[in-house]
Amino acid sequence: MAEHAYFLARKLLTLGACAPPRVSAKSAPSTSFINKESMNDKLNVPILLGTAREGRQSEKVAKFVLVEAHQYGFDSQLIDVRDYLTTLIDKTKHDTPWAGIVKKANGLIIVSPEYNHGYPGELKLLLDSLYKEYLDLPIGICGVSGGLVGGARVAMALEPVLIEIGARVVRPINLFPQVQNLFDATGNPIDPKITDKLKLMFDNIIKFAR
Ligand SMILES: Cc1cc2nc3c(=O)[nH]c(=O)nc-3n(C[C@H](O)[C@H](O)[C@H](O)COP(=O)(O)O)c2cc1C
Repeated sequence: MAEHAYFLARKLLTLGACAPPRVSAKSAPSTSFINKESMNDKLNVPILLGTAREGRQSEKVAKFVLVEAHQYGFDSQLIDVRDYLTTLIDKTKHDTPWAGIVKKANGLIIVSPEYNHGYPGELKLLLDSLYKEYLDLPIGICGVSGGLVGGARVAMALEPVLIEIGARVVRPINLFPQVQNLFDATGNPIDPKITDKLKLMFDNIIKFAR
Protein backbone atom coordinates (compact mmCIF):
# COMPACT_ATOMS: atom_id res chain seq x y z
CA MET A 1 0.00 0.00 0.00
CA ALA A 2 2.71 2.44 0.97
CA GLU A 3 4.89 3.79 -1.80
CA HIS A 4 8.03 3.09 0.20
CA ALA A 5 7.01 -0.58 0.28
CA TYR A 6 6.97 -0.49 -3.51
CA PHE A 7 10.48 0.93 -3.74
CA LEU A 8 11.74 -1.43 -1.06
CA ALA A 9 10.36 -4.37 -2.97
CA ARG A 10 11.90 -2.99 -6.11
CA LYS A 11 15.30 -2.73 -4.48
CA LEU A 12 15.03 -6.22 -3.08
CA LEU A 13 14.22 -7.51 -6.52
CA THR A 14 17.27 -5.64 -7.93
CA LEU A 15 15.29 -3.69 -10.49
CA GLY A 16 16.02 -0.26 -9.03
CA ALA A 17 18.39 0.58 -11.87
CA CYS A 18 15.62 0.72 -14.45
CA ALA A 19 13.34 3.03 -12.47
CA PRO A 20 11.49 5.40 -14.81
CA PRO A 21 11.66 9.16 -14.23
CA ARG A 22 9.59 10.16 -11.24
CA VAL A 23 6.51 12.23 -11.80
CA SER A 24 5.34 14.34 -8.93
CA ALA A 25 2.88 17.16 -8.52
CA LYS A 26 5.78 19.40 -7.46
CA SER A 27 8.06 18.75 -10.40
CA ALA A 28 5.45 18.53 -13.14
CA PRO A 29 5.89 21.32 -15.69
CA SER A 30 2.86 23.43 -16.46
CA THR A 31 3.36 22.69 -20.17
CA SER A 32 2.36 19.08 -19.48
CA PHE A 33 -1.28 19.98 -19.94
CA ILE A 34 -2.20 19.02 -23.48
CA ASN A 35 -5.36 18.47 -25.42
CA LYS A 36 -7.68 19.73 -22.68
CA GLU A 37 -10.61 21.76 -23.87
CA SER A 38 -11.29 23.44 -20.55
CA MET A 39 -9.71 23.20 -17.14
CA ASN A 40 -13.24 23.39 -15.73
CA ASP A 41 -14.33 20.18 -17.44
CA LYS A 42 -14.18 16.99 -15.45
CA LEU A 43 -11.30 14.84 -16.57
CA ASN A 44 -12.22 11.49 -18.05
CA VAL A 45 -10.21 8.88 -16.13
CA PRO A 46 -11.50 5.31 -16.57
CA ILE A 47 -10.62 2.64 -14.00
CA LEU A 48 -9.53 -0.55 -15.77
CA LEU A 49 -9.99 -3.79 -13.85
CA GLY A 50 -7.35 -6.04 -15.37
CA THR A 51 -8.45 -9.53 -14.37
CA ALA A 52 -11.28 -11.69 -15.65
CA ARG A 53 -10.84 -14.32 -12.92
CA GLU A 54 -14.02 -15.64 -11.33
CA GLY A 55 -14.06 -14.58 -7.66
CA ARG A 56 -11.46 -11.84 -8.16
CA GLN A 57 -10.70 -9.74 -5.06
CA SER A 58 -9.33 -6.97 -7.23
CA GLU A 59 -12.88 -5.99 -8.11
CA LYS A 60 -13.26 -4.60 -4.57
CA VAL A 61 -10.22 -2.41 -5.10
CA ALA A 62 -11.45 -1.24 -8.50
CA LYS A 63 -14.86 -0.31 -7.08
CA PHE A 64 -13.23 1.49 -4.19
CA VAL A 65 -10.92 3.43 -6.53
CA LEU A 66 -13.95 4.33 -8.66
CA VAL A 67 -15.78 5.82 -5.66
CA GLU A 68 -12.67 7.76 -4.67
CA ALA A 69 -12.18 9.01 -8.24
CA HIS A 70 -15.79 10.27 -8.34
CA GLN A 71 -15.37 11.98 -4.99
CA TYR A 72 -12.16 13.58 -6.20
CA GLY A 73 -14.01 15.00 -9.21
CA PHE A 74 -13.04 12.73 -12.09
CA ASP A 75 -15.52 11.56 -14.66
CA SER A 76 -14.67 7.86 -14.21
CA GLN A 77 -16.28 4.58 -15.11
CA LEU A 78 -15.29 1.02 -14.32
CA ILE A 79 -13.92 -0.80 -17.36
CA ASP A 80 -13.96 -4.54 -16.86
CA VAL A 81 -11.45 -6.42 -19.00
CA ARG A 82 -14.02 -9.24 -19.21
CA ASP A 83 -16.30 -7.11 -21.36
CA TYR A 84 -13.71 -6.35 -24.04
CA LEU A 85 -11.89 -9.61 -24.72
CA THR A 86 -14.09 -10.90 -27.50
CA THR A 87 -13.48 -7.72 -29.51
CA LEU A 88 -9.72 -8.28 -29.54
CA ILE A 89 -9.44 -11.34 -31.73
CA ASP A 90 -9.56 -9.54 -35.08
CA LYS A 91 -6.31 -7.57 -35.19
CA THR A 92 -7.40 -5.66 -38.31
CA LYS A 93 -10.10 -3.79 -36.37
CA HIS A 94 -8.98 -0.57 -34.72
CA ASP A 95 -12.37 0.90 -33.93
CA THR A 96 -12.91 -1.38 -30.95
CA PRO A 97 -14.83 -0.25 -27.85
CA TRP A 98 -11.51 -0.17 -25.98
CA ALA A 99 -10.03 2.15 -28.61
CA GLY A 100 -12.99 4.49 -28.11
CA ILE A 101 -12.40 4.53 -24.36
CA VAL A 102 -8.66 5.24 -24.63
CA LYS A 103 -9.05 7.94 -27.29
CA LYS A 104 -11.33 10.04 -25.13
CA ALA A 105 -9.49 9.38 -21.85
CA ASN A 106 -7.49 12.16 -20.21
CA GLY A 107 -5.87 9.59 -17.92
CA LEU A 108 -6.27 5.96 -16.90
CA ILE A 109 -5.94 3.92 -13.72
CA ILE A 110 -5.15 0.21 -13.98
CA VAL A 111 -6.14 -2.06 -11.10
CA SER A 112 -4.28 -5.32 -11.55
CA PRO A 113 -3.67 -8.35 -9.38
CA GLU A 114 -0.30 -10.03 -9.29
CA TYR A 115 -0.34 -13.45 -10.92
CA ASN A 116 2.92 -15.40 -10.74
CA HIS A 117 4.84 -12.14 -10.30
CA GLY A 118 3.29 -10.69 -13.45
CA TYR A 119 0.08 -9.26 -14.88
CA PRO A 120 -2.96 -11.21 -16.06
CA GLY A 121 -2.67 -12.28 -19.70
CA GLU A 122 -6.03 -10.74 -20.51
CA LEU A 123 -4.81 -7.31 -19.36
CA LYS A 124 -1.79 -7.57 -21.67
CA LEU A 125 -3.99 -8.69 -24.54
CA LEU A 126 -6.21 -5.65 -24.06
CA LEU A 127 -3.28 -3.23 -23.76
CA ASP A 128 -1.55 -4.72 -26.81
CA SER A 129 -4.62 -4.24 -28.99
CA LEU A 130 -3.74 -0.53 -29.39
CA TYR A 131 -0.53 1.48 -29.65
CA LYS A 132 -0.55 5.11 -30.81
CA GLU A 133 -3.76 5.79 -28.90
CA TYR A 134 -1.83 5.66 -25.61
CA LEU A 135 0.64 8.43 -26.49
CA ASP A 136 1.23 10.67 -23.45
CA LEU A 137 -1.68 9.14 -21.53
CA PRO A 138 -0.94 9.36 -17.80
CA ILE A 139 -1.56 5.97 -16.24
CA GLY A 140 -1.71 5.18 -12.53
CA ILE A 141 -1.18 1.63 -11.30
CA CYS A 142 -2.93 -0.07 -8.39
CA GLY A 143 -1.25 -3.41 -7.66
CA VAL A 144 -3.27 -6.01 -5.75
CA SER A 145 -2.16 -9.20 -4.05
CA GLY A 146 -3.16 -11.71 -1.46
CA GLY A 147 0.35 -11.62 -0.02
CA LEU A 148 2.43 -9.02 1.79
CA VAL A 149 4.32 -7.57 -1.16
CA GLY A 150 1.08 -6.02 -2.31
CA GLY A 151 1.28 -6.26 -6.06
CA ALA A 152 4.65 -4.48 -6.25
CA ARG A 153 5.92 -7.03 -8.74
CA VAL A 154 2.95 -6.64 -11.05
CA ALA A 155 3.48 -2.86 -10.94
CA MET A 156 7.14 -3.42 -11.82
CA ALA A 157 6.15 -5.72 -14.67
CA LEU A 158 3.59 -3.26 -16.02
CA GLU A 159 5.85 -0.20 -16.03
CA PRO A 160 8.06 -1.16 -19.00
CA VAL A 161 4.97 -2.19 -20.96
CA LEU A 162 3.31 1.17 -20.35
CA ILE A 163 6.47 3.10 -21.16
CA GLU A 164 6.86 1.13 -24.41
CA ILE A 165 3.36 2.07 -25.55
CA GLY A 166 4.12 5.75 -24.97
CA ALA A 167 2.12 6.27 -21.79
CA ARG A 168 3.35 8.14 -18.70
CA VAL A 169 3.41 6.11 -15.52
CA VAL A 170 2.43 8.44 -12.69
CA ARG A 171 3.49 8.25 -9.07
CA PRO A 172 2.79 7.08 -6.50
CA ILE A 173 2.11 3.48 -7.37
CA ASN A 174 -0.69 2.31 -5.04
CA LEU A 175 -0.35 -1.11 -3.49
CA PHE A 176 -3.11 -3.20 -1.93
CA PRO A 177 -1.49 -6.10 -0.04
CA GLN A 178 -3.48 -8.82 1.65
CA VAL A 179 -6.55 -7.55 -0.18
CA GLN A 180 -8.80 -10.08 1.52
CA ASN A 181 -8.35 -8.09 4.78
CA LEU A 182 -8.63 -4.54 3.42
CA PHE A 183 -12.37 -4.00 3.09
CA ASP A 184 -15.43 -4.55 5.23
CA ALA A 185 -18.57 -6.30 3.97
CA THR A 186 -19.86 -3.09 2.39
CA GLY A 187 -16.64 -2.47 0.46
CA ASN A 188 -15.37 0.34 2.68
CA PRO A 189 -11.67 0.30 3.56
CA ILE A 190 -10.95 -0.85 7.11
CA ASP A 191 -7.99 1.55 7.27
CA PRO A 192 -9.12 4.94 5.87
CA LYS A 193 -5.47 5.91 5.31
CA ILE A 194 -5.39 3.93 2.07
CA THR A 195 -7.01 6.92 0.38
CA ASP A 196 -4.04 9.22 1.00
CA LYS A 197 -1.81 7.75 -1.66
CA LEU A 198 -4.67 7.53 -4.10
CA LYS A 199 -5.20 11.28 -3.91
CA LEU A 200 -1.53 11.88 -4.70
CA MET A 201 -1.93 9.64 -7.74
CA PHE A 202 -5.03 11.58 -8.80
CA ASP A 203 -3.15 14.89 -8.38
CA ASN A 204 -0.40 13.66 -10.68
CA ILE A 205 -2.87 12.40 -13.27
CA ILE A 206 -4.22 15.96 -13.40
CA LYS A 207 -0.71 17.34 -13.84
CA PHE A 208 -0.13 15.20 -16.89
CA ALA A 209 -3.68 14.84 -18.18
CA ARG A 210 -3.74 14.99 -21.95
C1 LIG B 1 -2.92 -17.65 -11.03
C2 LIG B 1 -2.62 -16.88 -9.78
C3 LIG B 1 -1.32 -16.50 -9.49
C4 LIG B 1 -1.02 -15.75 -8.35
N1 LIG B 1 0.26 -15.32 -8.13
C5 LIG B 1 0.53 -14.51 -7.09
C6 LIG B 1 1.81 -13.94 -6.92
O1 LIG B 1 2.70 -14.14 -7.70
N2 LIG B 1 2.03 -13.14 -5.84
C7 LIG B 1 1.03 -12.84 -4.94
O2 LIG B 1 1.27 -12.09 -3.99
N3 LIG B 1 -0.20 -13.36 -5.09
C8 LIG B 1 -0.48 -14.17 -6.15
N4 LIG B 1 -1.75 -14.66 -6.33
C9 LIG B 1 -2.79 -14.32 -5.36
C10 LIG B 1 -3.53 -13.05 -5.79
O3 LIG B 1 -2.71 -11.95 -5.57
C11 LIG B 1 -4.82 -13.00 -5.01
O4 LIG B 1 -5.72 -13.90 -5.63
C12 LIG B 1 -5.44 -11.64 -4.85
O5 LIG B 1 -6.73 -11.83 -4.30
C13 LIG B 1 -5.59 -10.80 -6.12
O6 LIG B 1 -6.06 -11.54 -7.22
P1 LIG B 1 -7.63 -11.65 -7.59
O7 LIG B 1 -8.12 -10.28 -7.97
O8 LIG B 1 -7.68 -12.59 -8.76
O9 LIG B 1 -8.35 -12.18 -6.40
C14 LIG B 1 -2.07 -15.42 -7.45
C15 LIG B 1 -3.39 -15.83 -7.74
C16 LIG B 1 -3.66 -16.52 -8.89
C17 LIG B 1 -5.09 -16.90 -9.20
